[in-house]
Amino acid sequence: MQATQLFIDGVLYNVSVWNVVTAYDGRSGKVLWTFDPKVAPEWARLACCGPSARGIAAWKGRIYIGALDGRLIAVDARTGRQVWSVQTFDRKDAYSITGPPRVFDGVVVIGNGGADYGVRGFVTAYDAATGRKRWRFYTVPGNPARGPDGEASDNVMPMATKTWNGEWWKYGGGGTVWDSFVYDPKLRLVYLGTGNGAPHVQHFRSPAGGDNLFLCSIIAVNVDTGKYVWHYQMVPNEQWDFTCTQPIVLADLTIDGVERQVLMQAPKNGFFYVIDRKTGKVISGKSYVPNLWASEIDLVTGKPVVNPESYLTLTPKLMTPTALAAHTWHPMSYSPRTGLVYLSAQEQWMVMARVKDEDFTWVFHRSNSGFSYASSPERRELQRIADSREKGYLLAWDPVKQQEAFRVNYPYPGSGGILSTAGNILVQGTVNRTLAVYRADNGRKLWEMDTQTVAIAGPMSYEIDGEQYIAVNFGWGGSPVHGIDAASPRIQFGPGRLMVFKLGAKGVNLPPMPPPSPVPAPPRLTATEDIIRKGEKLFGETCSRCHGERARGGVKDIRFMTPEAHAQFNAIVLDGVRKDKGMVGFKDILKPADADAIHAYLIARANEDFKDESFAPAPIAK
Ligand code: HEC
Repeated sequence: MQATQLFIDGVLYNVSVWNVVTAYDGRSGKVLWTFDPKVAPEWARLACCGPSARGIAAWKGRIYIGALDGRLIAVDARTGRQVWSVQTFDRKDAYSITGPPRVFDGVVVIGNGGADYGVRGFVTAYDAATGRKRWRFYTVPGNPARGPDGEASDNVMPMATKTWNGEWWKYGGGGTVWDSFVYDPKLRLVYLGTGNGAPHVQHFRSPAGGDNLFLCSIIAVNVDTGKYVWHYQMVPNEQWDFTCTQPIVLADLTIDGVERQVLMQAPKNGFFYVIDRKTGKVISGKSYVPNLWASEIDLVTGKPVVNPESYLTLTPKLMTPTALAAHTWHPMSYSPRTGLVYLSAQEQWMVMARVKDEDFTWVFHRSNSGFSYASSPERRELQRIADSREKGYLLAWDPVKQQEAFRVNYPYPGSGGILSTAGNILVQGTVNRTLAVYRADNGRKLWEMDTQTVAIAGPMSYEIDGEQYIAVNFGWGGSPVHGIDAASPRIQFGPGRLMVFKLGAKGVNLPPMPPPSPVPAPPRLTATEDIIRKGEKLFGETCSRCHGERARGGVKDIRFMTPEAHAQFNAIVLDGVRKDKGMVGFKDILKPADADAIHAYLIARANEDFKDESFAPAPIAK
């Protein structure tokens, strides 16, 4: 559950996984209507981190939904009945939509994801009233031999093409705009945050290097025409799965005595950027986490001073920040009252390397990275170091001084988005499975409640008759968090829920959590080392996006399966018998022998981790 609700005229609108939208009476919680776009379960396979939905938009009596399968749907806000629907991408390609649509001045803007699978990023604007297309902006060049696309981005594609080489278009190139766009009504500019390259490893995408515009950039386009106005690229030579799709926040800040109209972003690469939103010039950029990628931003050239050691090679090395992000889609918040920005920061380490040229294969409809997943004793040791360094905290950051104001530490990464209010409070779902309220000026904890699961979504606040309410979606999942599945006793997460709070509320008792399920002892390991290594590589390529690096974390821990799941393994993995739960079959790209190898690898991983006493579950009362 990743979405933040909308509140309009007494009604609270929410969206859950599979894009199911529900309207509630804001006071009583009574359901007014539900709209289910009935997305086919097969689409889960093309959404890197689950069939999540990060929000909906509203305009003049309508609610807008970006469905996972690429439909942009307008429904009547009063009745929940569909008014119009358009398909925003070719359903044959590996795109999906998890980010929210946004409406600016009668124009609905929608992006997509899919760079992990191999697509070319673009954003499309539609007329909010009719669903007619207004403009489209491609974020990376296509095959130059094909000529212009006939779209709003045509005039800047020659500039972008110069920064690429090789045959990137065969792999799509990437740069998908999968989460944040923001609008400045005075400047009439829409700011688009673009994602990672496809495939991830630049060596395979653009072998002679190059900036690869407009990967990991912010692009400002005119709202009426979709024409380019400026861009700022945060990550030239993108090859770390860094994305600049993270929330963009607009503010007016006084910097060196001058009031500046800025936009702020804390993307995956660990730097906090303050950018002049009229010109695109970077005003300042500082890393808010330990950073092996770059030491600083050169304010004269606007470019990062990249640590040469961080470029990917065949030799595995420790990296931070990583694909797992110093901060990702979780809403960050700026309080004009304190002058601080609040975000869910994390120190996530990974071991990174690329595969040898002869081992790079591109498979349609599979995550295609070029990263190496092969292990060795040295690599396992580095991985142990990586795991031991994970951290997560609520970070209060001063964007003018570019320095930390305070932090609230958590035992793991994985806490949620942050709301700050004019009442000087911060509201955040914590990885401790609580909802916490802190003072916004100093981080002192004011209140906390056990909520059985984590709210990774951003909370929101609304008012009815002078009373303030706070609404939050609770629900764990999405991007894998390493360390949390090594916790002892094992952490159990409650079900997804929308919860609404107010001062003096009568209160609701949550139903008790079921007793923790025992961790079944893994089957005996019988496979050969060769088969296990084959399975490791296939797992890394095909399964790790959802089931976590080295099969820890993600949507479901598949190291410790029940005997039934072991018995059904090939039916689940190849035939997709659990597709209604989001586990679609991979028969088209895996053979039975491949599934057997992955199974062997998982059994090996289970035996490896089960031996570790710290992994034993809390004792269960018989
Ligand atoms: C797009 C995300 C996604 C990908 C990729 C994915 N899975 Fe899954 N998988 C899921 C989800 C979601 C579930 C949970 C279904 C449920 O709750 O029963 C699941 C469940 C499973 C289960 C059942 C576990 C159990 O204990 O019941 C197995 C086995 C499994 N996956 C294996 C794999 C393998 C092997 C791969 C790679 C070939 C893979 N999955 C790739 C999303 C994914």
